Amino acid sequence: IKRIGVLTSGGDAPGMNAAIRAVTRVALNSGIEVFGIYDGYRGMVDGHIEPLTRKEVGEVIDRGGTVLGSARLPEFKDPSVREKAVEQLKKRGIEAVVVIGGDGSYRGALALTEMGINCIGLPGTIDNDITSTDYTIGFDTALHTVVEAVDKLRDTSSSHHRCSVVEVMGNRCGDLTLWAGIACGAEIVVTAQTGFDEEEVLERLRELDLVRKKRHAIVLISEKITDVHQFARKITQTTGFSGRATILGHIQRGGSPTPSDRVLASRMGEKAVDLLMQGIGGRCVCIQQNEIVDVAIEEALSVPRESRKQLYNLFERLV
Ligand code: F6P
Repeated sequence: IKRIGVLTSGGDAPGMNAAIRAVTRVALNSGIEVFGIYDGYRGMVDGHIEPLTRKEVGEVIDRGGTVLGSARLPEFKDPSVREKAVEQLKKRGIEAVVVIGGDGSYRGALALTEMGINCIGLPGTIDNDITSTDYTIGFDTALHTVVEAVDKLRDTSSSHHRCSVVEVMGNRCGDLTLWAGIACGAEIVVTAQTGFDEEEVLERLRELDLVRKKRHAIVLISEKITDVHQFARKITQTTGFSGRATILGHIQRGGSPTPSDRVLASRMGEKAVDLLMQGIGGRCVCIQQNEIVDVAIEEALSVPRESRKQLYNLFERLV
C-alpha cells in the first residue's frame, strides 16, 4: 500500500488530533504517503484532500477538536454520492482510509470498503457509545470536563441549600453521566437505562433534605430525557431545595485531551495503519481489557450495549 487518507467525521472529540498524528506518523515512518481529507465525508466527495507531512501533524497532540475539520453528511448513504467520493480517492491514488468518528461514520467506512476502498474505523466520540470498545477516544477528556464543572456546581449549591440539575451529553448512552455521577459523588443519576420517574426523584430529594439533612444535592441527567429547567422549577416548588439547572452542552466536546485519551488515540492509530498495511479493511479498532484489538464493523455495530448494572449498583451503594 502506498497512499492512505485520514478523516474525522461526526461530532468532534478531544484526542482526534492525536489519532490523526499517530496515523500520519506511523504511516510515513512505514513509507506510506498520507492525505488529510477535510470536513469528513464532505471533503471526500468535494475533493478537499491534501497531503499531510510529519510537520503538519506536529504540535497538535495537545489540541482539542480536529485540525481536519468534521461534518455530518447524511447524504453519504446515497450510493451515487459515495461513487463521487471513490472517484476523488482514485484520482489521487488513495487506496485506503482511516475514518475517525462514531457509529454513523463507521457505516460510511463499511460502505466504502464494499466499494473497494479499504477503511478502518477508529472510535472518536465523547459518548462512549460504540459498544465493541471499552472506551472511545474523547470520553476520558469529556468526563474530566464534566467532573470539573460539577465539582464547581457543588460548591455553590452547598452554600445555598440548592439542588443542581446538570444535563450531560452522551446521545442515547448514559456512560458519561454514570461515570461522572460516581466520580463527583452525585446524589442521583438519570439515564436511558435508569429511566426517569419524576415523582420518584422528587421524593428522593425530599428525603435527602428532611431525613439526611443534606445541604445540597446533585442530579445528573443524560441529555434527551427531560427539560432540566422545568424540572429544576419543580424541585423548587415541591422540595426543600431550591433547584437550578445547568446544561453543560458543547463545553463537553472541547479542551485539551487527557494523557489517557492521547495514549489511546496513539495506540489505536498505530493499529489502524498496521491493519491497512496487511490489506485489511471493513474493521474497526477497539480497546478491550486494555488490549488493542480489531473487530468487523458489522459486528461492532451490532454488539448489544453492556448493561453497566454493577456500576449502577455501586453508584447506589455510595449515596
Ligand atoms: O456525539 C457527540 C455529541 O456531542 C452528542 O453527545 C450529542 O448528542 C451530539 O453530539 C450533539 O450534536 P451537535 O454537535 O451536532 O449538536
